[in-house]
Formats: sequence, C-alpha cells, structure tokens
Amino acid sequence: MLHGILHYAHYLLESTIEKNETVIDATCGNGQDTLFLSNVVGKNGHVLAFDIQEQAIQTTRQLMQENQKQNVSIIHDSHEHLEKYLPTKEMLVGGAVFNLGYLPRSDKTIITNANSTIMAINKILHFLKPNGLIVIVVYYGHEGGHEEKEAVLKHVMQLSQRSYHVLQYRFINQRNNPPFIIAIEKKGNGFTKRKLSF
Ligand SMILES: C[S@@+](CC[C@H](N)C(=O)[O-])C[C@H]1O[C@@H](n2cnc3c(N)ncnc32)[C@H](O)[C@@H]1O
Repeated sequence: MLHGILHYAHYLLESTIEKNETVIDATCGNGQDTLFLSNVVGKNGHVLAFDIQEQAIQTTRQLMQENQKQNVSIIHDSHEHLEKYLPTKEMLVGGAVFNLGYLPRSDKTIITNANSTIMAINKILHFLKPNGLIVIVVYYGHEGGHEEKEAVLKHVMQLSQRSYHVLQYRFINQRNNPPFIIAIEKKGNGFTKRKLSF
C-alpha cells in the first residue's frame, strides 16, 4: 500500500509536472531520473540535468542516446549555478528533483554538500511555478551525509508556511539510515494537477 521512496518521488513529480514544461534534475548521476522527467515533459518539454562528475555526465548522455531523447540538456556544472542555463530570467520551472549523496558504484568522496544544495533549492524556488514541487531524496548514511541532512532539514523547516508546504516522507522503523523524501510545494491559488490514484 505505501509507496517506496523512489516510487513516491516519481509519483509526486508526475502529479504536478505538465507536458511541455522545463524541469530540473539537479543531480543526474546515472540518469534514471533524467529519463523519467524526459518522458513526463514529452518531446516538446525540456530537462536540464546537472552533475559535477564526468562519469555521471557520460552515463546520462549514453542513456539519453539509447532512448533517443532530444529534450535533455546535460550540464557539467554544479546545480548552484542553474540560473545560467535557463533560457530567460522570467521563465517558470515545472518541477525539480535532487538525489543527495554519492553516485552508486563510484567515488564515494564526491558528494552533494549542504551549501550548494541549499543555494540550488533557493534558486529553484524562485523559478518554480505556483503549485510546483521540488522533490529531494535524502541519502545520508555516508561520511558527510548527516551534516548535509541536518542543514537541509533546518533550512526547509524555516521556509514560510504562507508560501510553501514542506513535507517529509520517511519510514521510521527501518535500519541503516534509509533514504527519505523532502517535498517542497510552492503555494499557488490555481488548479493543481493531481492524480488521485492512491
Ligand atoms: C545520489 S547521486 C544521483 C543519482 C541519480 N539520480 C541516478 O538516478 O542515478 C548524487 C549525484 O550528485 C552529484 N553531485 C554532487 N554535488 C553536485 C553539485 N553541486 N551539483 C550537481 N551534481 C552534484 C554527484 O556527482 C552524484 O552523481
């Protein structure tokens, strides 16, 4: 009955992102979320996929080629510089996803860190459409992970409740630092696309 973490992350994104929108994968890694977002926005939408690691860029590029995806820009830069890659300063972003931590089966010392993660969250919130979501999957079992988790939680818990809904989705009886979700919804006063399928 309960969605697993990755399934719920996709469920949330799919519930709010519309076809043709521009969306952000802030940590593309092996490209699985990039591929998912590419399918959700469709061929006239656009995915900006960021990573600082060459291996992640190569793997994501290959996955996009194998799937003949032409609506993805793979950007070898830190997500904190994301505004440089948006076509206009007035545009709205349909949604965004982060996977915090390190790239599986890769260099465990290349990890996301609190400062750039928080800066990127703030920048995306500025561009996010009303009723849009940022979904953050927090992996924190690695060295440095607890510090980032605490800093990100502290930051999002201080976001104004007049402007944002902030959700934590977490299994509380699992061992070994299981990942959890933080979802930030920018409040709006219009219609929200929601699939009431669960
Ligand atoms: C948990 S992995 C992402 C997994 C990915 N979503 C997937 O489907 O495979 C985290 C990724 O964040 C990247 N990363 C770390 N710091 C970053 C930053 N400042 N900007 C963009 N990517 C970053 C790492 O290189 C790593 O590939």
